Amino acid sequence: MQDKIELDINEANDLVERFGSPLYVYDEEILRKRCREIRELLKYEGFIPNYSAKANSNIELLKIIRSEGFTVDAMSPGEIMTELSAGFDKDEILFVSNNITYEEMDFAVKHGIRISIDSLMQLRMFGERHRGGSCAVRINPGIGDGGNEKIITGGHSKFGITLEKLPELHRIVRDYDLHIIGINQHIGSLFYDTEKYVGACRRMLDTAMEFPELEFIDFGGGFGIPYRYRHPEERPDLSEIGGLMDSLIADFMRAYGRKLTVKVEPGRYIVAECCQLLGTVTSTKISYGEKYVGTDIGFNVLMRPVLYDAYHYIAVYNREDKEETVNIVGNICESGDILARNRSLPKLHVGDLIGIRDTGAYGYSMSSNYNSRLRPAEVLINRSSGTVRLIRKRDTYEDLLKNMIF
Ligand code: LLP
Repeated sequence: MQDKIELDINEANDLVERFGSPLYVYDEEILRKRCREIRELLKYEGFIPNYSAKANSNIELLKIIRSEGFTVDAMSPGEIMTELSAGFDKDEILFVSNNITYEEMDFAVKHGIRISIDSLMQLRMFGERHRGGSCAVRINPGIGDGGNEKIITGGHSKFGITLEKLPELHRIVRDYDLHIIGINQHIGSLFYDTEKYVGACRRMLDTAMEFPELEFIDFGGGFGIPYRYRHPEERPDLSEIGGLMDSLIADFMRAYGRKLTVKVEPGRYIVAECCQLLGTVTSTKISYGEKYVGTDIGFNVLMRPVLYDAYHYIAVYNREDKEETVNIVGNICESGDILARNRSLPKLHVGDLIGIRDTGAYGYSMSSNYNSRLRPAEVLINRSSGTVRLIRKRDTYEDLLKNMIF
């Protein structure tokens, strides 16, 4: 099976004709393949992978991921509601909270959903409201890794409770008679290196020894994917990571005296590669000696290149042999609205389709209505049954006005 979704020129044109442009297109079999790779990460029998739904929370994709044996995390009450609608049971959701309000804490407790608390002050707030209650805590293991500084979360960042604060954490637990039933971490997103992730896992296991009432340990996500096609091998070595973790976990469980549930929490690795974002060339121009190819993919549709200088491979659906170096840009009224700079691509003409690869993670989920643009539709292809299904409608102009009071 392919590693990433592939479309041919006829299929791409047919999809856009039927569902419009721009369009997020997902391949179910590739999504399932990625789920299975992560499910096989650990041999430990108490292992349950936890999908990080912020990467993509389309309900049909969530249903598929759940059917592959995953539980799910949530970052907000909104994600909790979406996950419940996708069929996740309350026990299958972990609310990984960050700077939440009392109301948001109460929301999770009311729905019977486990919550992970991110700071000592929030732990006190939780204790005031839910004395004698149970929660998890997010540990910052002091090790970070990831694609760029905006998405490294371990070490110097706003996240988690640092290790030197643990004595105070235990005091708060005693003061409010709390039960710490889980610890979790996330060192950052888009890492390729084994050493730091496994090193942070080791620290987590050392830390876990201090918590006698644990039910689970969640080591977080962040597993990178090869965005640059010329380096298809650029993936974290899952079998190396899994092997090392399995042996650490076996030693830990023996010392702890009880078998706990173990989770990892990937988002991107699961959903990125099963998706291409199709868009249409709307105009071309040469300005200051550079060629600009204008498209209908503004940064309201895909933010990653603008926000993180992220690289996405661009497939071109035409029959041109000649290549030229161009900037691919969107239709948003900002000069930073650039999808790709100085990219050598087959010559593009108005009406041609392009496919932005690996956009299943943090693509639609970070899209917006900026410039009062409509967020695109999403479709799901199943190659074995030969079906194509609309799984989210394009926004309408009525949607833009829906919450306005006038
Ligand atoms: N768990 C926690 C607590 C997280 O904060 C995150 C991501 C994940 C799991 C999943 O990480 P993943 O496996 O997807 O790397 N918008 C950025 C990525 C932000 C990730 C934030 N936290 C991007 O487009 O690269």
